Amino acid sequence: MLAVINCRQLITLAGPARPRVGAEMRELSIISDGAMLVLNERIEKVGTRKQVEPFIGAKCTVVDAGGRILLPGFVDAHTHPVFAGTRANEFEERAGGASYQEIAARGGGIKSTVRSTQAATLDELVQAGRRYAEWFLRSGTTTVEAKSGYGLSVEDEIKLLRAIKRLGQETPLRYVPTFLGAHDIPFEYLNRQDEYVSLLVDEMLPRVAQEKLAEYCDVFCEAKAFSIDESRAILSAARSHGLELRIHADQLSLSGGAKLAADLNTVTADHLEHADAVGIAALKSAGVQPVLLPGSVYALGSNRYPPAREMIETGLAVVLATDFNPGSSPTPSMPMVLSLASTHMKMTPAESITAATINAACSLARVEALGSLEPRKVADFVIHDCDDYRELAYFFGIEHAWKVYASGCLAFSRS
Ligand code: NIG
Ligand code: FE
Repeated sequence: MLAVINCRQLITLAGPARPRVGAEMRELSIISDGAMLVLNERIEKVGTRKQVEPFIGAKCTVVDAGGRILLPGFVDAHTHPVFAGTRANEFEERAGGASYQEIAARGGGIKSTVRSTQAATLDELVQAGRRYAEWFLRSGTTTVEAKSGYGLSVEDEIKLLRAIKRLGQETPLRYVPTFLGAHDIPFEYLNRQDEYVSLLVDEMLPRVAQEKLAEYCDVFCEAKAFSIDESRAILSAARSHGLELRIHADQLSLSGGAKLAADLNTVTADHLEHADAVGIAALKSAGVQPVLLPGSVYALGSNRYPPAREMIETGLAVVLATDFNPGSSPTPSMPMVLSLASTHMKMTPAESITAATINAACSLARVEALGSLEPRKVADFVIHDCDDYRELAYFFGIEHAWKVYASGCLAFSRS
């Protein structure tokens, strides 16, 4: 048994086991001078020190939070965490004035990461991925949704999904796998895009489903990637194989991705920087969760953030995620995302925390196990070195996490 005591604020997010909307997003269910009991990998009891203390036995390991704050581990519901190499060279070019789209048009961008990832072995990808797993954990993230998408051939996509599976077995970080074979058109399929869509539908998806390597399928729906019709075909095929759906929608232009998400009833529509009122209303009627990725807007030097306020006022169950990837969003830091959400999207710190925990867990069908600190849930929790939860978004550019636990075991500790 493990007891955490002396938490100035115990941010439980206790409440209904469903996405929080509207004013509910500001309700964190905070216990002052809180304490928590953990038995094996599950939460046993959550309350004030007075309520919990009588249950702390002699054999219990006691962790004194020293007046810091306790939160559920962040659930990062949109990441691309397995790839080889970096794109620091392109980052420098963009600093010199080149745009993300220009670099992509000349064979850089996603295609450049695909080249290095295809050349890497499974072991090399796991090795690279371990470093990023540690970065996530030390930022206070205990679950990531992890997309493939830098392989773009049957064998290379399978290799990425196997790397994700191994990382889930070999690190304390929890991975939820998503197949994103429709991330870009491979170089050798230029001008034969329809053949690549057939490869995705006829070969890749059946393999991924048969080997049970993914829970979700995602598509990059965008003028320079997959059209509405292609995205619809790929996602419908994925659904017929039993995969749930997510979609990169309206990121670089208004391509109608949000409306497609609503039509297909995907679980999430991600990015949405260019989504319009019609798209937002469609998401609302279909109950699709928007996943907002301000890290990618920031890192691309854009100022077009998605209209989070409008979405919250409409009643959408907003999720925040990092979009960690080597091109458009090279950050694993959820606190950085909380900061951007407040400064650029006018989300309050409480709304942002809800979006990065319980709402994210709902978007991954993990609400019964993750996203809040309540009895019977998995003991994924983080002691942050803050006096008040608002500091998580307010102080930026530093690491707040002091001790990180995944399934009740210490996964990261700062002295
Ligand atoms: O979510 N939009 C497409 N995919 C990523 C970028 C991936 C990359 O640049 O390598 C994104 O922003
Ligand atoms: Fe992405």
